[in-house]
Formats: sequence, structure tokens, C-alpha cells
Amino acid sequence: MAGDSTYRAGCEHLVVQVDDDSAARRIVSDLLTDAGCSVRSFSSGKEVIEYLHGHGKADCILLDVRLPDVDGLSLFQLLRNDYPGIPVILMTGFGNVDQAVSAMTQGAYYYFTKPVDLLLLRRTVCELLEKIRLQRQIFEMTKARANFGLIGQSNAIRETIRRVKLVADLQTTVLITGETGTGKELVARAIHEGGRRCGQPFIAFNCAAIPDTLLESELFGYEKGAFTGAGHSKPGKFELADRGTLFLDEIGDLPSALQAKLLRVLEDREVERLGGVHMKKVDVRFLAATHHSPSDLLTGDRFRQDLYYRLASFEIRLPPLRERVDDLPLLVFHFLGELNRTCRRTVQVVNPAVMDFFTNYPWPGNIRELRNMLETAVICCPGREMQLEHLPGPARSAAVCNRADLPALSQLEREAVTRALEQAKGNRTVAARLLGISRNQVRYRIKKYGLAEDSEESGSGVHTS
Ligand SMILES: Nc1ncnc2c1ncn2[C@@H]1O[C@H](COP(=O)(O)OP(=O)(O)OP(=O)(O)O)[C@@H](O)[C@H]1O
Ligand SMILES: [Mg+2]
Repeated sequence: MAGDSTYRAGCEHLVVQVDDDSAARRIVSDLLTDAGCSVRSFSSGKEVIEYLHGHGKADCILLDVRLPDVDGLSLFQLLRNDYPGIPVILMTGFGNVDQAVSAMTQGAYYYFTKPVDLLLLRRTVCELLEKIRLQRQIFEMTKARANFGLIGQSNAIRETIRRVKLVADLQTTVLITGETGTGKELVARAIHEGGRRCGQPFIAFNCAAIPDTLLESELFGYEKGAFTGAGHSKPGKFELADRGTLFLDEIGDLPSALQAKLLRVLEDREVERLGGVHMKKVDVRFLAATHHSPSDLLTGDRFRQDLYYRLASFEIRLPPLRERVDDLPLLVFHFLGELNRTCRRTVQVVNPAVMDFFTNYPWPGNIRELRNMLETAVICCPGREMQLEHLPGPARSAAVCNRADLPALSQLEREAVTRALEQAKGNRTVAARLLGISRNQVRYRIKKYGLAEDSEESGSGVHTS
């Protein structure tokens, strides 16, 4: 039931079905049209091949393996070879399960044995089409690196991308703010790559990761003998970033003595190594980032105001993931594609309960945490569907706690069955048709939710045969 309300395909998607049984064709076609898909039906292998060879469109093919003119499995092989980008779902009679399983290993997306569980069929097709839609969006986004690998469609990420494009080709210093894991470094790289310094060095320097005593020599470099242990001379980060970009990460952690020195470099664009005697001109574009908000940074005297205003000539604030949950499906499928490759898994579908959990989870570690959680889940998921049980332990416990706050799936199911029975004036066979499930399944739910006396009633099921 959950799938019914959660998944709805967009009618821009075209499902092609091939089945010689006209009644089964009509049931499946009505079911999928009702779910928001466009459906094109063919009754033989020859017809569908002619259609595809004539450049007919298909986002997915539902193929009955028992066809009058060709063996469905040979047709499947032909489709895999000639149209590898179109996923194929097989429908098979009970005796052909072995063949269907072997077809799965050859790349079929799914197979159903007849009589087909219509609810599951509808859910599977809608999930597949949603996945195709997300993959197309991700492709568009990464095409020609138009958005520098920044995935998302929310207003917040669009605004970020707009500001990155505005400033990338200038020499302006940019301060990037946002909680941990929101993509500050990714945005810094995007600014570098989107501007004319692309191809020149991009040096990232984390001011919080280096002991205070070493910060100055790392940034400015030193000459041989400048201090005990300086056995050779070494250029600093300013020099290494010459002609390129220096990204000063966690700038809020720079000690105050160095803040004054940095301000001078920003003003004069000159540096002198420790123990050196010459000032050297450097041509560097500066980007900085902090997880502190500007008001936190400027509270007390921890951070110099003049340096702040010099760095924040232009500011890009990255919103936390919980404020842009619209981006979750895209991010999840983007990372799934990457993780399936690196972890050698084939996770195709994310169970709605997992997406519900993702939508309600506060994501303190933001996109980094999402990626890490997905990595664990992908590793733990042996099949095609990611379930709550595949998430890391702490997240799983949070999901169980959170579920108390969500409308329970069973509640949605109960409402759907009640409404269908009302519309069908109590006729379970009609209600079953409306819901796209079997009459027995309706009977089971009536009993489960105590909706009516469990009396017998005649009528045929809606399974295809
Ligand atoms: N919009 C996005 N699209 C795709 N991947 C993203 C996006 N934003 C962040 N990421 C990914 O999330 C991870 C964390 O991003 P990044 O290191 O840039 O965050 P950060 O804000 O610098 O974190 P921290 O403050 O902890 O250093 C990286 O793997 C990055 O590629
Ligand atoms: Mg970072």
C-alpha cells in the first residue's frame, strides 16, 4: 500500500507492454495509466520490434515471455543487445521461473510470475520510472559540469549555484559559510574551476588541522636555517597557490597574530618566507570558509572585524541539508550510482520507509553524513532494495523512534481501503479493482483493520493470468 501513495509516475514516461492476452493487457494498461504513466501496448514481438526500430520511445518494457510469434526470452536478448538503455521487466508463467531467473542475471530489471501481484507491479514500475527521472536530472546537472558537481534542485541550491557562477570568473575574495558537511569545499572548488584560474593550482589549507606553532611556516614558508630544524628552504601555501586559488578552510580558527599577517597579505599581495630577506609578489585568489555564522565569528575579539570584512567581500551561505530535503531523492540516487560502482552492489530502489526516515532525520553531519550512511547501507544491502535494516545501527534506532511521529503506513493503508470500500458501496471485488490488489488482499485488510464483518462474497480477483 505504501507504494501506492508514495510513487506516482510522471506521464512524460512511456511504458511499453508486450502481451498477447488482451484482457491482461487492458488490466495492466489501466493500472499504470491510473498511476500516471503513458502506456503503449503491443500483442506480438514483431510489432514491438517494428515500433522500436522506427525510433519509437520507451522508458521501460513489460515483456510477456510467452508470445505467439517469438520466444520472449530471445526477444529479451535482442532488446538487451539493441536497446541496452531500456530496462525490461519480464512476466512469466509459473513453469518458466528458472528461465526468468537466468534472464535477471543477464540484466532484466525484474520479473513477475503470473498471476501478477498488481500492487507490486505498479510499485515496481513507478519506482523504476522515478529512478529514471532522477538519473536524467543528475545527468543534466553533471553534463558539461554545468553545475560543477553540485547536485540539487531546491531553491537553496539553485541560489548557491547562481552565486557561484556570479563570482567564479572574478578575483573577488569569497567567504563560504555553512555547517559541517554542507559542501563548502565543493563550492570553493566550483568557484576555482568556474573561473579563469581553472587549470592552475587549487591549494586547500585547513587552519584548524595544523598546530598553531606550524601554521605560520606552513603558510609563509621558510628559508634554510630560519629556525631549529629548518634544514632546507620550503615555499609556503601562498607561494604554492601563485596564479591559482588558496582556500583557507576553518578560517575562524586562525590565531589572532596570524590574522593580522593574513590581512597584510590580502592588502599587499606580497609574502616573505620566515628567515627570508625578500618580499615576493604573489598572484593568488583567496577563498575562505567557516562553520561559524558571521555573528558568532565576530562575537568577542576572537576574530578581527577588518579581516572578516576583507574576506567576506562576497558571501555564500550553504543551507543545512534538513532545510533542503527536496534535494534528498537526487542526492540519494546520485550517491547510489557512485556507491554501487565502488562497493560492487546493485541497489536499485530505496524503500519508502528509508526515504521517510531521511526526510525526517536532522542530518547534523549534512551531506557527508548522508553519503557515509548510504555507503554502510549499500554495503549491507545484498539485493536491489535498500531497507531500514541496512542503515547503520544508530540511524536505525533513530528511525524507529521517529516512526512514532510519522503518519504510520498502516494508517494510510486503512484510509485507502476504507475509501475504496465506500466508493464500491461495500463490494469487495470492485474495491479490489479500485485498489489494484486482489479480493483476498482486500478481505485480509478488512479483517486486519476491523472495517467490516468478514463475510464471504462472490466475485473474481484482479490478478492477470
Ligand atoms: N550539493 C552537493 N552535491 C553533491 N555532493 C555534495 C554536495 N554538497 C556536498 N557534497 C559532498 O558532501 C561531502 C562533504 O562536502 P564538503 O567536504 O565540501 O563539506 P564541508 O562543508 O567542507 O564540510 P566540513 O565543514 O566538515 O569541512 C563531499 O563528499 C562532497 O562531495
Ligand atoms: Mg571542508
